[in-house]
Amino acid sequence: MFLTAIMATICMMTMNAQPKLSAGNIDEVMKAMTLEEKAKLLVGGANNFFGDQAVVGGEAGLVAGAAGTSSAIPRLGIPATVLTDGPAGVRIDPTRKGTTQTYYATGFPIGTCLASTWNTDLVSKVGEAIGNETKEYRCDVILGPGMNLHRNPLCGRNFEYYSEDPFLTGKIAAAYINGVQSQNVGVSAKHFAVNSQETVRTSVDERLSQRAAREIYLRGFEIAVRESHPWTIMASYNKINGEFSMGNRDLLTSILRDDWGYQGIVMTDWIGIRQGLPTITEVQAGNDLMEPGQPAQMKEIIEGVKSGKLSIEDVDRNVRRMLEYIVKTPSFHQYPASNKPDIKAHAAITRQSACEGIVLMKNNGCLPWNTQTVKTVALFGENSYNFLSGGVGSGCVHTPYVVDMVEGLKNAGISTSEKLTDIYRKYIDFARVKFQAERHPAKWFQSEAMGQQKYPEISISPLLINKEAKSADAAIITIGRQAGEGIDRDIDNEFNIVPEERALITDVCNAFHAVGKPVIVVINSGSVIETASWSNYPDAILCAWQPGMEGGNSVADILTGKVCPSGKLTMTWPIAATDHPSTSNFPGQIDFFSFEQMAGDRRPIPGHTYTNHEEDIYVGYRYFDTFQKAVAYPFGFGLSYTTFSLDNMKVKNVRNESIEISVTVKNTGSMSGKEVAQVYVTAPQGNIEKPTRELKAFAKTRELKPGEQQVLTMQIPIRMLASFDEQNSQWLTDDGLYTFFIGTSIRDIRCVATAKVNQYIEKVSNALAPKVKLNILHK
Ligand code: BGC
Repeated sequence: MFLTAIMATICMMTMNAQPKLSAGNIDEVMKAMTLEEKAKLLVGGANNFFGDQAVVGGEAGLVAGAAGTSSAIPRLGIPATVLTDGPAGVRIDPTRKGTTQTYYATGFPIGTCLASTWNTDLVSKVGEAIGNETKEYRCDVILGPGMNLHRNPLCGRNFEYYSEDPFLTGKIAAAYINGVQSQNVGVSAKHFAVNSQETVRTSVDERLSQRAAREIYLRGFEIAVRESHPWTIMASYNKINGEFSMGNRDLLTSILRDDWGYQGIVMTDWIGIRQGLPTITEVQAGNDLMEPGQPAQMKEIIEGVKSGKLSIEDVDRNVRRMLEYIVKTPSFHQYPASNKPDIKAHAAITRQSACEGIVLMKNNGCLPWNTQTVKTVALFGENSYNFLSGGVGSGCVHTPYVVDMVEGLKNAGISTSEKLTDIYRKYIDFARVKFQAERHPAKWFQSEAMGQQKYPEISISPLLINKEAKSADAAIITIGRQAGEGIDRDIDNEFNIVPEERALITDVCNAFHAVGKPVIVVINSGSVIETASWSNYPDAILCAWQPGMEGGNSVADILTGKVCPSGKLTMTWPIAATDHPSTSNFPGQIDFFSFEQMAGDRRPIPGHTYTNHEEDIYVGYRYFDTFQKAVAYPFGFGLSYTTFSLDNMKVKNVRNESIEISVTVKNTGSMSGKEVAQVYVTAPQGNIEKPTRELKAFAKTRELKPGEQQVLTMQIPIRMLASFDEQNSQWLTDDGLYTFFIGTSIRDIRCVATAKVNQYIEKVSNALAPKVKLNILHK
């Protein structure tokens, strides 16, 4: 009896000394942790990013090709968790040493394409599928959604992001996050914040007003935090008003946690060199996890605490948040990952979501095709045969296949010209080898492992084009653009079309039109291109974006009318790239070392890198609409094969908490389809200058049959009508009469109504004040 009691006491003492983590004993585990263990938990555990550099946690290779891990502390039952890239699907190595098994993941549509669906339910479904693959491939967090604003069409990573509008960005991101996290895995909403350019992204100082920060660059994140509670948020590389985001207390604590109530963890973005940013500052600012993690960072935390430069309270606060995150993960729950997600079922989801994101920009009536009369198509353009499913960089996905236009049309019963197929296929084989052989090693983003590459367009002689016009029933010209991480796009070769493309458009249109046959241009690009100089030539233009691995099938579904197009642009397509006021400061004042002198990103010469946000809040349509500028295609634009009426608009102020808006949408055409009701709001004249109209709500109908109608009801919380009042650090909704417009684009308004709104004020922290005077654009 006595002996049993002693044994039990010893056993309890041992247990007390070494508790194993559970959701209920975080305090106890923290008490048992040494300073070294705490520091270890705040520093990423394993990666293959830095080649032969030591790894902190020793968990390298948990999931080959995943971007990183958090560190394990087995003594206390703390597992490593695995972070994998996204956002268009799970990015892991498709093959592994020692096994013939493959680990391909579904390539879903890129961010811009997903957002162009304006369908939050559909985006959630995509999120669920991505969350499922994350879990089945033994990962805990997908590093997405990408939520940065399309400040300028030249940003290399716009394809990963959603829109030039923060409200749409927030809503689409929340839908994606809720979908992913319904699978009990996490997201990392990124890149927090104001990371709207790639040039010198690890050092550029984004100088902007508090108002532009709050209303434009942070609003989307705020909506996502409040409506979907991301497990993690990734701080961006850049500085904001002189301070790195990753070590910015104003951003990571005052705004994110104090103002918005965020409860999850913040992690850093990846490149290890912090260029003058101490790890201690990051910990203090509220950055909980240094990724991918280096031993020196751990050492810095330990020494910081020992020397008194870093308080143990700050460390403990972040450690607690890490543990609260870890207990939610599949790794903690030892989820038996199958490594066999249902790629076939997910292919159907990606095909459907891409169809809804494709935007019909022009149609003279030639579409949809009657497959009885259009049997053979002449396919022009390199990307018809090298169809780009996604962008390059960490946002690429290793997919099992990509359906190109040849295959997509074939699956729809349409054959393609053999001669052209032969020419282009052989050219692409040659171009691929040449491109890789001639690639500068510093241009890592141009390697095949970083995503599909685009090869220079070739010219096709008018003689051959004329022959094709005789034998084919129609022509398609695919105009492709590739872009990605680490580099922005240039105007001449990437935004504008190149001479070979211009020749192709004019020659093909001339030849086919001469024999009465239609020409369709398919845009296979993650971001905006110039269209105004050539859009009058073809009979139809379809913006397919980079629609994921089922791309060719999705485009064929639209061409043949299997699916009625319902995608809407989430950004303005300007006539010229320089029409955006931000272009004069994009990528800003930057002097950088040459490619030869750099090791990864282009390295700036210290002290010379900033971009002034002189356009302030006038980003995208806020500028084009307020300043009444002509555009190629307006925000929210997208054609359909059927027609809709939007009538019977009703607006009601509900207890000054929200505005309820309803509208009846009726299919007045002859084909089933969906329509998006977009609500733009004009505020009454107050003390703060405002854009003419801002998007404040939207809803998409279900598929309506001809003659069928649906009442859409939307709510706008009064706080979402507020502008940011810098003088008083508050959100302010002025009282007065608000005008609500419902349209099918910002320039196609169908109904108007007004409602009286009382003043609403929400005090927030005085954060992110600019340190230099900005020459801000005013009306
Ligand atoms: C990118 C992130 C990505 C991370 C890990 C960074 O360079 O900016 O978006 O998640 O690498 O691959």
